[in-house]
Amino acid sequence: MGSDADPVEGVVATIARSASEIRQGLVGRRGKSDRENPSGETQAEADVWADELLADRLTSIDGVAQYASEERSDVIDCEDTAYCVAVDPLDGSSNLTSNNTMGTVFGIYDEPLPAPGSALVAAGFVLYGPITTMTYARDGTVTKYELTGGERSIVESNVTVPDDPLVYGFGGRVPHWTDGFREYVREIESNPDHKLRYGGAMIGDVNQVLTYGGIFAYPALEDSPRGKLRLQFEGNPIAYVIESAGGRSSDGDRSILEIEPTDVHERVPLHVGNAELIERLEDALA
Ligand code: F6P
Ligand code: MG
Repeated sequence: MGSDADPVEGVVATIARSASEIRQGLVGRRGKSDRENPSGETQAEADVWADELLADRLTSIDGVAQYASEERSDVIDCEDTAYCVAVDPLDGSSNLTSNNTMGTVFGIYDEPLPAPGSALVAAGFVLYGPITTMTYARDGTVTKYELTGGERSIVESNVTVPDDPLVYGFGGRVPHWTDGFREYVREIESNPDHKLRYGGAMIGDVNQVLTYGGIFAYPALEDSPRGKLRLQFEGNPIAYVIESAGGRSSDGDRSILEIEPTDVHERVPLHVGNAELIERLEDALA
């Protein structure tokens, strides 16, 4: 497992190779476990299983210094130095019950965790849709692959967020949105060129934005000012992919990649999409 010379490519290749197995392993693991993750959410059996599988494989790669996951409290320290991997093993795993889209999100940092998004050297996600794909950003370039068995084949190089925004999707309960955010949503909805797309798994909804242009947000809520999504495992990797694809990210005020974290499990209000929509959002929330 630790034979790839470039540790970053080693991590990406290992996640790509593991994706088919994770997908197959979902069968029979759709129930709830009796455990909670560090954010207080009941874990699915598949959350715990996918986390253990990825922890075993990623910590055995030469050059991986740390493994952290949304599904475990503590960071695993390895004997190596260099890269720290943060993973959401199964983003949107509540969609297991209904058999809808979910994904695996990863960020590879060159600083100890918790680390700012500016320390990311690569990030991406696997999408378990009708087919399994991986979208991965490194050195300012985003590439999309199809994964079949252990194979990875490029389906799109230089992926960019399309210029004309088409889709929007916003998480959280509407009565809990702030007034500024609610007004912004009204403006987005009133544009006849825009269509609602919301599936309840961040990664599926972000993938719609990357494919068609638009905006996805899980905003600050009246009862949860930091929103729901986690900075290390979800916010930073997604912001890195979208910014590498020419879009923008924001916590409502600045790029998510600029945030200095204090805790591995801290949350962040997340807004990603076409630059013009994120600029308007920041104006609306100012
Ligand atoms: O990882 C958290 C997550 O599952 C996201 O994928 C998704 O966007 C969000 O929670 C949905 O949460 P809720 O259904 O509680 O609004
Ligand atoms: Mg998640």
